[in-house]
Amino acid sequence: MRVTARAHPNIALVKYWGKRDSELNLPAVGSISITLGDLWTDMRLDTDAGADALTVNGEQRDDLMPRIARCLDVVLGEDRKPVSIVSESNFPVAAGLASSASAFAAAVVAAAAVSGREHGKDELANLAGRASGSAARSLYDGFVELENAGDRVAVRSIRDTDSWPLSVVVAITSVAPKSVGSGEAMEISRRTSPFYARWVDEQEDDLARARDAIAERDFMKLADTAEHNCLKMHSVMWSSRPPMVYWNAATLDCMRVVRELRAGGVSVFFTIDAGPQVKAVCMPEEVDRVREALGKVEGVENIMTSGLGAGAHLIE
Ligand code: PMV
Repeated sequence: MRVTARAHPNIALVKYWGKRDSELNLPAVGSISITLGDLWTDMRLDTDAGADALTVNGEQRDDLMPRIARCLDVVLGEDRKPVSIVSESNFPVAAGLASSASAFAAAVVAAAAVSGREHGKDELANLAGRASGSAARSLYDGFVELENAGDRVAVRSIRDTDSWPLSVVVAITSVAPKSVGSGEAMEISRRTSPFYARWVDEQEDDLARARDAIAERDFMKLADTAEHNCLKMHSVMWSSRPPMVYWNAATLDCMRVVRELRAGGVSVFFTIDAGPQVKAVCMPEEVDRVREALGKVEGVENIMTSGLGAGAHLIE
C-alpha cells in the first residue's frame, strides 16, 4: 500500500517554549500560529518494504528514521510492518523553518491512511504533537490556537485562510542545522532560566491579546503582541545555562529593517523561532516592499514568500 500526505509548516505568533510533561511531550503553554500554504512537505509511505527506510529530499537519512519510526509506532502500533518513506520539502529542513512540524503532521496523516482506521483530526493533532509539539498545529488551516486540555492538547482553527489573508516573507540567513534541537533546548530553559516561570505566567495575557487582534483583524495589535512574545521567548533562551543564541548578525539587521519599515507606515512585523531566519508577517500588498528591503540586508542568502494555507491532508 502506498499513500502520500502533504502538510505545510506553521509559524507561531504566540510561541510554545517549554514542556509540562516530557514523556507525553505536552507543552507548558498554549500557542497561536499561522499555517503557511506555499511551503510544503510531501511524505509518501510505502508498506511494501523489507525494512524501515527514509529518504529526505533525495538523500537517504537513516539518522532521522528513529524519530519518525517512533511517530509511526504511535499511530500504527509497535508491531507495524516496515515502511519506506520518501519525504520531499520545497524549503530547507532543520533550519528553524518548522520542517519538523510539516514532516510529523504529514507522517501521521499518511500513517492513519495506512492503518485503515478512521482518525479524527483532534486525534491526529495529538499524535503529531507527541513527536513535535508544534506539529499538532499543522493539521489545521489559517490561524490556529493550541490549548492545553488535561493530558491532551485541544487545537482549532480560529480564523480561516481567506478572511484575513496575511503573507509571510522569510529571510533565510543560514541553512546550517541548528546547534541545539528545540526539544532539548526547552528542557534546558525550564531547568535553568530565571525568566522561565515568568514566561509561562504571562502567556495567557499574550494569547488573549493575539486572539482579540486576530478576531478584530487589528494588524498593529497583532504586530505588537507577536514581537513582544517572540523577544520574550528568546530572552528565556539567552538567559538559560548554557545560553541558546540562535541569531546571527543578519537576523538582527532584518529585525531592524522590519521595525524601520513599520515606522515608515508598512504593515509588517517579525517573528523568529529556534533558528536564525526572520519571518516577516505582512499584508499581501506589502510583500514586494518587504522582500526588497530584506533582500538588501547583508547575509540574507535567500528569500521565500508564502500566503496562509490548509491543514495536513492526503494527496494520493
Ligand atoms: O515543536 P518543536 O519541538 O519543534 O518546538 C517549536 C518551538 C518554536 O518553534 C520555537 C515555537 C513554536 O511555537 O513553534
